[in-house]
Amino acid sequence: MNRRTFLRWGLTTGALLTLSACNKLLGQSSDPMQGHDMHSMGHDMSGGMMGGSTALLPVNALPTGAPLATLALLKNLSTEPNTFKANLTAKETSVELVKGKPTAFWTYNDQVPGPQIVVNEGDTVAITFRNTLSQPSTIHWHGLPVPPEQDGNPHDPVAPNAERVYTFTLPIGSAGTYWYHTHAHGYAAEQAFRGLAGSLIVKAKDDPLAHLPEQHLLFSDLRLDTDAQIPVNDMMDWMNGREGQFVLCNGQHQPKITITGTQRLRIWNACSARYLNLSVPNCEFIVVGTDGGLLEAPAQPVTELLIAPAERFEVIVRAKQSGTFPLQSLPYNRQKMMTAFTPETLTLASVTIQATELNLPTRLRTIANMGEVTAQKKVTFSEMNMNQIMGQMQGGGMNHNMSGMESMNGMSQPQMMMTGMFYINEKSFDMNRIDMTSKVGEVEEWLLSNNSHMDHPFHLHGTQFEIIEHINNGIKTPPAYRSRKDTVNLRPNEQVRIKTVQHSKGLRMFHCHILEHESVGMMAQLMVV
Ligand code: C2O
Ligand code: CU
Ligand code: CU
Repeated sequence: MNRRTFLRWGLTTGALLTLSACNKLLGQSSDPMQGHDMHSMGHDMSGGMMGGSTALLPVNALPTGAPLATLALLKNLSTEPNTFKANLTAKETSVELVKGKPTAFWTYNDQVPGPQIVVNEGDTVAITFRNTLSQPSTIHWHGLPVPPEQDGNPHDPVAPNAERVYTFTLPIGSAGTYWYHTHAHGYAAEQAFRGLAGSLIVKAKDDPLAHLPEQHLLFSDLRLDTDAQIPVNDMMDWMNGREGQFVLCNGQHQPKITITGTQRLRIWNACSARYLNLSVPNCEFIVVGTDGGLLEAPAQPVTELLIAPAERFEVIVRAKQSGTFPLQSLPYNRQKMMTAFTPETLTLASVTIQATELNLPTRLRTIANMGEVTAQKKVTFSEMNMNQIMGQMQGGGMNHNMSGMESMNGMSQPQMMMTGMFYINEKSFDMNRIDMTSKVGEVEEWLLSNNSHMDHPFHLHGTQFEIIEHINNGIKTPPAYRSRKDTVNLRPNEQVRIKTVQHSKGLRMFHCHILEHESVGMMAQLMVV
């Protein structure tokens, strides 16, 4: 164990002892698969930096029931055809959500969420990003096939008070529902929960649903203390991913949505860690699109739609009865650690809807076959168990490389403590290590495995993939429909087989999209050659 690493752990010894004392773990010999892990501490932790120490505003502190706001659009400054030019500035902005107590957000162009970017297939985009924050930042174009050096990789920080231009051309076939957010090294989680995320839509030239009115629902998570300020993450946040007491829809608390006739809804889960299990009483969702665009045909209606962090869906809502109903997120147990599961139903909005005949085409598009698989990859998520942590403290040595993180200033103690606890292929993120190599244009099959005890949403940069099957307890289930995705959830012990191909050379990231996990090192690097 090198000295710096030792000091890092030395600093956090007190916290670790608190943690371990909770379950009298010291001295237990345990097999991580036998439940002697952090999940076996079946009670809530509170106090100190573990979590729950900040007094929060009550949920009724934010007004509800305003009509759903449309997302502000990012203005195109170009007058040339097929060109989109605009500016995005990251800055501190105060927004008065609670009367008399303005909240300091970090925003793009003063908007929470960031302004919506609407572009067309074939467009050339040039966005000048200016960073006026005191931390480095980047903009990542989540899900889009942009060149790696334009994709806001953590390796390409825009320093405080610096600016750069992100430029890319959107290929035909890339129409879909995307988003953009910070990907600053080690800071992505904090910058995102303070507000740095927005939506992006690529429109198709030949869109079979172009005749439908659209509504957009972007869900984000917010925690406010009693002064209506956004508190830092505590250790439980770094461990499980942050969930605030508010879920906002287009920046509003429980707005009123009105749906008339057949409408196309685009839905973003832009929360750092919260899973949304959407449901509207007396209504069904007909999924027509996913992250990377339309399905081949409208899917069979469902009454619940699980949306993991970073996933997007396009849906048509069908009412069996006219009326006003709550849009809810039903209980979903993602197996958070050291926290008892309390099944709660959240109200996200209200929906006023008429039962009408739907006006939907039966065919939407043909999703091209990627071609024959000629390479295989394996990606495995895992987490450290308590015995390994205690072993490290007793001088067993670090089995992960911290070089990427050691240079970080201003990383909080709880974040440092959780850094190196979540792995991809048994390693914590290292900026200086290439984890895998792919060839441009080569069709690959990736076997994703979750060998941990909690859900983790897998995300791959730069391309879209197709899910071949989910494998649970040896049972293989093909997806309900063919689709293009860049994010897929993995249940504990689940495996997912995907098919994918990269289109340009350079460095790509893949990671868990619980942003706290990404920021503590549950991320790896793919070099495309
Ligand atoms: Cu939205 Cu690297 O992620
Ligand atoms: Cu991404
Ligand atoms: Cu994770």
